[in-house]
Amino acid sequence: MVSRVIPVDPFDLVIFGGTGDLARRKILPALFRRFCSGQMEDESRIIGAARSDHTRDEFRQIVAEAIAEFNTSKDCETGTVEAFLERIDYVNVDAKGEDGWKDLSDLMIPGRVRAFYFSVAPSLFGPLAERLHAHGMADADSRIVVEKPFGRDLETARALNATLAQHFDESQIYRIDHYLGKETVQNLMAVRFGNMLFEPLWNSQYVDHIQITVAETVGVGGRGEYYDRSGAMRDMVQNHLMQLLCLIAMEPPAKFDPDAVRDEKLKVIRALDDVEPANIVRGQYGATKGAQDYAHDVENPRATSESFIAMRVNISNWRWAGTPFYLRTGKKLKARSSEIAVIFKETPHSIFGAEAGRHRNILTIRLQPNEGMDLDVTIKEPGPGGMRLIDVPLDMTFAEALGPDGEDVPDAYERLIMDVIRGNQTLFMRGDEVEAAWAWTDPIIEGWEARGDRPVSYDPGSSGPEDALVLIHRDGRRWREIRS
Ligand code: BG6
Repeated sequence: MVSRVIPVDPFDLVIFGGTGDLARRKILPALFRRFCSGQMEDESRIIGAARSDHTRDEFRQIVAEAIAEFNTSKDCETGTVEAFLERIDYVNVDAKGEDGWKDLSDLMIPGRVRAFYFSVAPSLFGPLAERLHAHGMADADSRIVVEKPFGRDLETARALNATLAQHFDESQIYRIDHYLGKETVQNLMAVRFGNMLFEPLWNSQYVDHIQITVAETVGVGGRGEYYDRSGAMRDMVQNHLMQLLCLIAMEPPAKFDPDAVRDEKLKVIRALDDVEPANIVRGQYGATKGAQDYAHDVENPRATSESFIAMRVNISNWRWAGTPFYLRTGKKLKARSSEIAVIFKETPHSIFGAEAGRHRNILTIRLQPNEGMDLDVTIKEPGPGGMRLIDVPLDMTFAEALGPDGEDVPDAYERLIMDVIRGNQTLFMRGDEVEAAWAWTDPIIEGWEARGDRPVSYDPGSSGPEDALVLIHRDGRRWREIRS
């Protein structure tokens, strides 16, 4: 199978924070891959903008090094890097001052789609938006791309939305949650709304419970300061896990159009019950031989943020009342594995008798690694010896089912940046969605602070704290094994 690449119109993409970590690791390699695939026309330009005083050639060198280090694509021909570098320019701008803005606006080509990527600290989002407006770059052809964290609570998110709204219309603001750009996450919508098979069963009558797991093996890395101010709740649950929950639980939108999809997601967030403290477990990884604990990694001996969280969430609406959603995410766990598992109920009556055991169907959507889906189906164990039942997976590993296209899955940023250029906001968070997510998260965090709750310790390389097992065992259920 050969994937179809539809070139986008020539564009200018300005990356504020163009020399930063995210730009080097994700944004620039993603653009390079789209260039290799033929999706970026030759006239398109990528303009790095940062405070550091670089010449264009120096920035090109930074881009070349980023591609050499972080590009994973196999299908770029020799010579493509040089051709890509030709598209790169650089301006030295001061986000909070006046330096460089005239140079940037002189570079703009009227009438061309232009995107401004704010790959900078959130405190600079407002000043950048103001200056773009003041220098005539906030017109109808412009859009801005905003990275997380989008606020740290409802109040700050509202203030940020209000600041951006002074200079840009909501239709020009692209709030990135890179989980929405992951291929399998988009596939969730295709599976649910492109097949007749699942949707009639997708409700509390047939679904016992749903588990969403995003497990990482890495610790907080070099981001200790940011992470300790956030914790897993702000860093992962409020955005990435919430988005996954929305896509799994939402009603079918009337059409695959940005506002229709986002309206349905918003309804899910607004239907979430408050979470009782007894339904949340927070953990912090401890030390092991050769590796320090969380408090050491974030350089704060009194750190009270969590590097692990597990919770039971209820959605109070007709479709889901009575079906719990169990969410779990953490760092330094036993494997890197993200999946959504829909665990269906057992049949109401077994004609095979008690000795056939208890069986149920499980649909697993694997986000990473090894993207794909499994559907556990109950069949007769082959051979003589009566009617013994076993559960076997109908396995659709994309790399096997789709050939080379399934192996070389595009990175989330590739898809999302091209959507910005095309002007498609479906996979971006709308302002009211972000605010609703904070409105649900805030009381939980405030409760921890008011009670002085502290996370419990867990062993690195484990599945998280024991208390997380108890959380689900209490309901007569168990977590799925974390394995890659
Ligand atoms: C980021 C978080 O948004 O997502 C990180 O800030 C986390 O803490 C990362 O490691 C996980 O993303 P991915 O794509 O590797 O699952």
